[in-house]
Amino acid sequence: MKPNLFITRKLPEKVLQPLKDIAVIEMWPKEEEPVPNELLEEKVKTCDGILTMLTDTIDEKMLNDASKLKVIANMAVGYDNIDISAAKHKNIIVTNTPDVLTNSTADLTFGLLMAVSRRMLEASDMLREGKWNNWSPFQMAGTDIYGKTIGIVGMGRIGKAVAKRATGFDMKILYHNRSRNQDAENKLDASYCSFDELLERSDFVVCLTPLTEQTKDMFNKTAFKKMKPSAFFINTSRGGVVDERALKEALDQGEIAGAGLDVYKNEPIGKEHPLLRSSRVVALPHIGSASYETRMKMAELARDNIIKVINGQSPITPV
Ligand code: DGY
Repeated sequence: MKPNLFITRKLPEKVLQPLKDIAVIEMWPKEEEPVPNELLEEKVKTCDGILTMLTDTIDEKMLNDASKLKVIANMAVGYDNIDISAAKHKNIIVTNTPDVLTNSTADLTFGLLMAVSRRMLEASDMLREGKWNNWSPFQMAGTDIYGKTIGIVGMGRIGKAVAKRATGFDMKILYHNRSRNQDAENKLDASYCSFDELLERSDFVVCLTPLTEQTKDMFNKTAFKKMKPSAFFINTSRGGVVDERALKEALDQGEIAGAGLDVYKNEPIGKEHPLLRSSRVVALPHIGSASYETRMKMAELARDNIIKVINGQSPITPV
């Protein structure tokens, strides 16, 4: 009997084709809307494999009810939506999609940094609103990027790719990480420092650390107070690492100069979200890895991880 697989979001036919030969596939038919929780619960309970998105929360209770689930292939590098220790306890393999999204996410991170410091969105809005009446010496004057200090919190694959981009801007690179990254130090001249020192010295603090019990709310009131008033905060990892109220306060009080955000604590956010009220914020709707090429690669990698496990082989990218 073929195994049963469930895919929690509509994916292109090209991605599904190789799965069809080896499994019975069911897919939530909507691309824009997440699968309802009750259906997800039922599928975790009854399927052999699930291909999930970062919007699907798979908790301990759900996993305890799983009768024959062998693999959860998350189409994301982050996996904070899945209770990993509960999965491990049940011998369920969890996979993610590292590497294939590194450069796209680094591009977007650097784009946010540039957009917020050079006020690109504000300037574009001024133009579109018909308010560009004159050129003037300090109109929309922002802050330079080249030659400044970038502080990267979380020097993993994406951190290193951001650091590589920073070298093209002659930036000094500081980083903070759980452990030293010799490769970044040797090849990119990145200097390791404590979290506090990084906050105090950086002109751009870039958050790329995964969300864990240890990193939850690590960017809090105390952290923002340590940053320079001229510095910018960029976050393209997970919203849960930031105390958003403290960030809003830091922006309002002028404790930091601005923020470039792609991720939020409770996604999706609506237009009434307090951080969207600040002109010092450039905000994007979690599109770090959203290029067509990269999303295809992520979907294909998630699929191939399922195929491997179903065929009794080791997955390509286990968590
Ligand atoms: C990930 O893969 O974790 C990213 O946040 C998706 O863009």
